[in-house]
Amino acid sequence: MEASIASFAYLVAAVCFILGIRGLASPETARRGNWIAIAGMAIAVGATLLRPQIVTFELVLGGIVIGGAIGTVIALRVKITDLPQLVAIFNSLVGLAAVLIAAAALESPSLYGIPLDGGLATHSLVEIMASTAIGAVTFTGSVVAFAKLHGLMQSAPITFTGQRAVNAFVGLIVLMAALAFAGWGTAGLFWALALAALIWGVLVVIPIGGADMPVVISVLNSASGWASCGIGFTLDNPLMIITGALVGASGAILSYIMCKGMNRSLAHVLLGGFGGETDGPAGDVADRGPVKAGNADDAAFMLRNAGSVVVVPGYGMAVAQAQYALREMVDMLEGEGVRVRFAIHPVAGRMPGHMNVLLAEANVPYDKVVEMEAINRDFPSTDIAFVIGANDITNPSARNDTSSPIYGMPVLEVDRSRMVMFVKRSMASGYAGVDNPLFFNENTMMLFGDAKAMCEGIIKSLE
Ligand code: TAP
Repeated sequence: MEASIASFAYLVAAVCFILGIRGLASPETARRGNWIAIAGMAIAVGATLLRPQIVTFELVLGGIVIGGAIGTVIALRVKITDLPQLVAIFNSLVGLAAVLIAAAALESPSLYGIPLDGGLATHSLVEIMASTAIGAVTFTGSVVAFAKLHGLMQSAPITFTGQRAVNAFVGLIVLMAALAFAGWGTAGLFWALALAALIWGVLVVIPIGGADMPVVISVLNSASGWASCGIGFTLDNPLMIITGALVGASGAILSYIMCKGMNRSLAHVLLGGFGGETDGPAGDVADRGPVKAGNADDAAFMLRNAGSVVVVPGYGMAVAQAQYALREMVDMLEGEGVRVRFAIHPVAGRMPGHMNVLLAEANVPYDKVVEMEAINRDFPSTDIAFVIGANDITNPSARNDTSSPIYGMPVLEVDRSRMVMFVKRSMASGYAGVDNPLFFNENTMMLFGDAKAMCEGIIKSLE
C-alpha cells in the first residue's frame, strides 16, 4: 500500500517536472512552470521521506534546512549575469552526489535494497560504474567551468604541449578502470575509477576558453542528468531515472541549439581553440577607416523622428544592466508615436534566453519581443536598428565572408535597415573576437559609451 502511494506520488512529481519544463519554454508561462516544478520537487521529497528505508529524519531534515538556507541566500543574491556559473557549481554538486551515492551503494548494498547474490550483479556494477565515471567528470569539470567564469582562474584556454595525447591517455585509463570495475567490482577499482575520472574532468575543461563555458556547462548539465539517471537504476528509484533522463535530454538539446546558433559543432567547442574570452582589439578607429560617431542628443533626435525602430540587445546590455533605462527610453519613443520592437537572437548574451530574461525583468511586453527569423523579414522596412551592447549577432561577415570564423552563423540582418546605431564602449570585437565591418558602413552611427549611461543620456535629451 505504502509502495503504491509512493509510486503514485512519484508519477505526479514526474508529470509536474515535464509540465514545468514545458512552461519554461515561454516567458509568459515560465513563472508558472517554475512553481509547478517546485511543487513536483516537494511531492518527490515528501514521497521519498516516506520510503521504508528512511528510519530517522534528523540528518535529512538538517540537510534540507542547511542546504535550503544556502540555496535561498545564493538565489536571492546572484546577479543574472552570474547565472551560468551558478548553474555550473550546482551541477558540480549533482556530480559529486552521484559519486558519493555510488560509493555508499557499493559499501552497503543491502541498505539500498540492492540484491546481493554472492556479490553485486553485473548490471548493478555497470550502473555504479557509469554514474561514478560521469559524476566525477561532471564534478571537477563543473568546478573548473565555475572558476573560469567567476574569474578565479584564467579564463583563456590553458594549453600545454602534448595536451591532446595526455587527455586521450587519461581518458583511456578511465575507460580501462571502468571496464575493470564492471568486471571485478572491488572498492580499490572503484576509487581508481573515481580518481581517474576526477582528473580527466579537469583536463578536458581547462583547454576550453571561458567564453565557450555556457556550452560546456550545458553539456555537463546533461552529464549530471545521466549520472543521476544511472544511480536511479542502482537505487531502483523510478523518479531519479525520469528526472535524470529529463535533465540529460534537455541539457543535450540545449547544447545542440547553442552550437547550431553559433554554427559550430559540439566537437569544435569541446576541443577548444576558439572564443577564449577576449575584449578584442581595443581598436584605434583611425586605423581601420573612418566611422561616424554620434552622441546621445544626435541619437535622440533621429530616434524621435523615426517611424519604426528595432532594438537589438546583446551581452553589453546585460553587463551594463541597461534594460530598465532602455525600457524607459522605449516608452518615451512610443509616446512620440514611434513603433518600437525588440529583436532576439538565439545566442545573444552568454546563456540561452539571456535577453528574454532581462527584457522580462524590465517588464517589456512579450508581444514586442520578436525572434530572429520573423524580424529579419522586417529590417528592410525599418528606419533605425538600435543595437545595444550586441556585436557578433549582427555581423554581416557571417553571411558573406566565407573566410570568417563565424561564417554560416545566422545573424540579425540589421544592415538592411535604413540606419544602424551601435551603442558600445569602443571598436572592440565581441565574444568571437571577429571585427564587425558594419561599424564602418555609410548608414551606421556609433554611439560610444556604456549602454546604461547612453540610454540615460538619450532619455534626458528626449525630455
Ligand atoms: P558580443 O558579440 O560578445 O558583443 C558584446 C558587445 O558588448 C561587445 O562588443 C562590447 O563592446 C559591448 N559591451 C560590453 N560591455 C558593454 C557596456 N557596459 N556597455 C555597452 N556595450 C558593452 O555579444 P552578442 O552580440 O550578444 O553575441 C553573443 C556572442 O556570445 C555570440 O558570439 C555567441 O555565439 C556567443 N555565445 C552565446 C551563448 C548564448 S547561449 N547566448 C553561449 C556561448 C557563446 P565594447 O567592449 O566596445 O563595449
